[in-house]
Amino acid sequence: MLPLVDKPLIQYSIEEAVESGIESILVITGREKSVIANHFDVSFELEQILKEKNKTEMFEMVRGIAEIARISYIRQQLALGLGHAIYQAIDFAENEPFAVLLADDIVDAEKPALAQMIEAYEKYQAPIIATMQVEGEAISRFGVIDAVEVEENIFKINDMVEKPAFEDAPSDLAIIGRYILTPDIFDAIRRTKKGAGGEIQITDAMRLMLSEGKDFYALKLEGKRHDAGDKLGFLIATVEFALQREDLGGEFREYLKSLNLNDDA
Ligand code: G1P
Repeated sequence: MLPLVDKPLIQYSIEEAVESGIESILVITGREKSVIANHFDVSFELEQILKEKNKTEMFEMVRGIAEIARISYIRQQLALGLGHAIYQAIDFAENEPFAVLLADDIVDAEKPALAQMIEAYEKYQAPIIATMQVEGEAISRFGVIDAVEVEENIFKINDMVEKPAFEDAPSDLAIIGRYILTPDIFDAIRRTKKGAGGEIQITDAMRLMLSEGKDFYALKLEGKRHDAGDKLGFLIATVEFALQREDLGGEFREYLKSLNLNDDA
């Protein structure tokens, strides 16, 4: 719920999903469930006050949040890892392909990241995961794929490993928090043992399916990915998003200039 400029982080992913054509959303949370649900709910009192005060723009904004999509919520009772979190969607997915968006990965792109992935899914009819190149030791903070490029920016995956040591990383292609998965993943998650960090990892479940002959592809996204789950990443995303805003960008740029950041002082 941390606001990036003036919207909670999770809203960026929800808007990305909606703009990509997704109509039903399941939010899988830890403890903050009710705060998130309240944010996306209709706020009768607030709407009433805004209406009475003729604050049309604000009214539309608040209404817009409530009308964004059909959103349901489920709580991951135990923090057993990303694979376990995704397993909570087993009933929701109703045996159909579905998308997973990790809300602290923000992709700033002209065409929404998920829309890019849906296009690749439609072409390859197989699970698609998002990837980007990561230089140096930072690669060990990610899942990493071993893959061959089959067309520009699309890779067929041979293997993948969750948070390898730098020396063991099979490539510089990191997994980022967007996946289109097929419902057979649930059975694989059930059969996946605890991995990195003692958690049930989605990377390991996908790896298990790969070893059983299932095809997986990766798409190098167009756009810039921000890690808003990291303090520095969050600050960078805040500055970049604020600079892009029509209502704030100009004054904010002037302010940043006034700090004379190039000076040694
Ligand atoms: C998760 C995934 C990892 C991926 C990363 C992207 O890790 O397990 O494979 O590279 O998201 O942000 P987390 O950052 O949740 O530890």
